Amino acid sequence: MSRLFISTLAILSLSACGGDTPEPTAPHTTSEAQAETRVETRAETPVAIAETVEDIGTSGDAETNILTSETIAAAAEPQIDTSAILLALGPDYADADLTNGRRQFRRCQSCHTMNEGGRHTVGPNLFGLMGSAAASSEGYSYSSALTSANLTWDTATLDAWIANPRALVPGNRMSFVGLRDAEDRRDVIGYIAIETAQ
Ligand code: HEC
Repeated sequence: MSRLFISTLAILSLSACGGDTPEPTAPHTTSEAQAETRVETRAETPVAIAETVEDIGTSGDAETNILTSETIAAAAEPQIDTSAILLALGPDYADADLTNGRRQFRRCQSCHTMNEGGRHTVGPNLFGLMGSAAASSEGYSYSSALTSANLTWDTATLDAWIANPRALVPGNRMSFVGLRDAEDRRDVIGYIAIETAQ
């Protein structure tokens, strides 16, 4: 608005000046325009600042409140950087769909807990799984097949296990038909890695 006003003023003063108006008029007109600008700026600035402050004030407060409760929630639980965990699993896992991973894990939940200190049920508790030796969750009595399999759980072994546990370790006791879909396996492995991170 002020820019439009100034250019209108400039045009008006130019036409007022005419072709043969002596030079001194121009600086005068310019400073009038500048004065206008200053007045307008001065008039607008406090409003603009007030609005900005109001904006920041409201949303700032709301954000602070959210942040505060998030911070409290985060402080209650250990900080886990989910994207760093996924990235550490390998480039394919950066895209893991954790919502689907959680959904797929429902198939495992009937036999496994994975929270820290969770009970062994039909199967062993899976906390701290990634990078651990197979059959090493304390207090669970594994089949001799899995105990002697000499496996370490990483993305490759887990992928093969979840796809078809019997093919990877013949004679083991996990009666699970297997997840056929490679993306479902990727997603559930990503989800488990995050949930069982120590
Ligand atoms: C019907 C019950 C059942 C279901 C469903 C099941 N498991 Fe298991 N799981 C077991 C049993 C039992 C074992 C121990 C096998 C053994 O000792 O031979 C086991 C072992 C494991 C192990 C090895 C753990 C270790 O400490 O070495 C992993 C990993 C695992 N299951 C992951 C999964 C995942 C992931 C799913 C879902 C996709 C799943 N399980 C579904 C019963 C189940």
